[in-house]
Amino acid sequence: MGRCVQTMPQRAVAVLLWTGLLVCGTAGERQWPVPYRRFDHRPMTDPYCQAQYTFCPTGYADGFIPLMKNEDVIEVFRLQAPVWEFKYGDLLGHFKIMHDAIGFRSTLTGKNYTAEWYELFQLGNCTFPHLRPGMSQPFWCNQGAACFFEGIDDQHWKSNGTLASVATISGSIFNQLAKWIREDNNTGIYYETWTVQGSLEPNSTVWFDSYDCSKFVLRIYEKLFQLGATFKRNVPTNYTRLFLFSGEPVYLGNESSIFGPQGNKSLASDIQKFYFPYRPHQSFTQLLLSILDIYGKAILNKTFYLYYNFEYWYLPMKPPYVNITYEEIPLPSR
Ligand SMILES: *[C@@H]1O[C@H](CO)[C@@H](O)[C@H](O)[C@H]1NC(C)=O
Ligand SMILES: *[C@@H]1O[C@H](CO)[C@@H](O)[C@H](O)[C@H]1NC(C)=O
Ligand SMILES: *[C@@H]1O[C@H](CO)[C@@H](O)[C@H](O)[C@H]1NC(C)=O
Ligand SMILES: *[C@@H]1O[C@H](CO)[C@@H](O)[C@H](O)[C@H]1NC(C)=O
Ligand SMILES: *[C@@H]1O[C@H](CO)[C@@H](O)[C@H](O)[C@H]1NC(C)=O
Ligand SMILES: *[C@@H]1O[C@H](CO)[C@@H](O)[C@H](O)[C@H]1NC(C)=O
Ligand SMILES: *[C@@H]1O[C@H](CO)[C@@H](O)[C@H](O)[C@H]1NC(C)=O
Ligand SMILES: *[C@@H]1O[C@H](CO)[C@@H](O)[C@H](O)[C@H]1NC(C)=O
Ligand SMILES: *[C@@H]1O[C@H](CO)[C@@H](O)[C@H](O)[C@H]1NC(C)=O
Ligand SMILES: *[C@@H]1O[C@H](CO)[C@@H](O)[C@H](O)[C@H]1NC(C)=O
Repeated sequence: MGRCVQTMPQRAVAVLLWTGLLVCGTAGERQWPVPYRRFDHRPMTDPYCQAQYTFCPTGYADGFIPLMKNEDVIEVFRLQAPVWEFKYGDLLGHFKIMHDAIGFRSTLTGKNYTAEWYELFQLGNCTFPHLRPGMSQPFWCNQGAACFFEGIDDQHWKSNGTLASVATISGSIFNQLAKWIREDNNTGIYYETWTVQGSLEPNSTVWFDSYDCSKFVLRIYEKLFQLGATFKRNVPTNYTRLFLFSGEPVYLGNESSIFGPQGNKSLASDIQKFYFPYRPHQSFTQLLLSILDIYGKAILNKTFYLYYNFEYWYLPMKPPYVNITYEEIPLPSR
């Protein structure tokens, strides 16, 4: 219900009709892409979710970001490196599965900083849920958050990735950005791996947008641009995106409406079957195999159950089903 009111704020009353499609009000049309839901605060993570690698080990506590002098000149860096390079070298770089971050260097103090947004419990946990004994609904450890720490590890970004200056901003702009990062971090709480689109055509409808490390960097560039930053030209800025292709998605419901006592048992069991073979705490190789397997399944059954905004959607999958791209999204400019 909240979603319909949210997507159609001008309508005080939204009528829900279950006809295989969810129709909002009389206007009928859904808003695509479905807006990523913002929360008023970040909840505590469930104790069931245990990180194998500590989130943000060298970050400042509680979202602290140091204040810059207003007259300082801060250099902004695009940072990109293969995902999990620390464990797998540039293996994922060959698939162009890259992690994005952003760097800042104060001219007055010479200190530099890294800001990045990533999964609290790694990619596997954000892509596949857990099936817990005694619990019918799949359980997700899918929070993601911002991490801000002092230092830029030049070697890490440069050797198989990118470290490139993209702009200079004032200390005053940096301080406004810092406030925005904290708000963004408290309201955007979960990670979404997939971009779901109608087809390969660049102008096809985007049904769902991902919410990952690169989106954080893109939001920051946009915010800096709004605050008056000017970006350099001719810095290539390509990003990894994981695509699913489907016809118009069908809203299925939230956890309680599907898996609760009044829920749709056959739908609940189909969703469980869809996710059952996957173990999020598996090794990385197993994770890649799971992604391939779910790909096979999506092709065989032309079905994908997407979890977005803590709700489930049915995706009528269509060729080419899945793709990974590494394409340019230019820096903001007038
Ligand atoms: C994924 O979540 C499970 C359940 O909490 C946890 O045991 C596992 O360590 C997590 N995986 C990673 C890589 O953090
Ligand atoms: C973002 O939220 C996480 C999780 O609560 C927290 O650890 C981190 O310090 C926050 N970061 C920023 C920059 O606000
Ligand atoms: C960031 O600071 C460290 C430590 O002083 C230095 O080694 C590194 O070269 C700096 N990187 C950038 C991009 O300023
Ligand atoms: C870059 O890739 C090479 C080849 O896989 C690897 O040996 C090296 O450790 C990587 N660099 C970093 C900083 O991990
Ligand atoms: C989308 O772009 C393709 C060519 O790339 C074109 O043939 C098609 O008509 C466009 N569709 C719409 C809805 O604009
Ligand atoms: C789940 O959906 C039902 C039926 O649409 C609704 O009444 C309920 O408030 C929703 N629960 C949550 C937690 O959003
Ligand atoms: C339960 O879900 C299935 C699959 O989405 C659907 O075909 C069926 O109509 C639903 N049943 C009810 C009673 O809503
Ligand atoms: C394919 O879909 C059917 C019905 O929706 C389901 O019973 C079956 O388990 C699915 N197969 C796989 C491999 O997911
Ligand atoms: C993936 O997308 C790229 C770029 O749009 C395209 O060249 C490639 O053919 C696509 N791959 C598949 C399997 O569709
Ligand atoms: C970056 O993206 C552009 C177009 O989106 C593409 O032509 C170019 O090959 C990509 N660069 C790399 C290194 O893949």
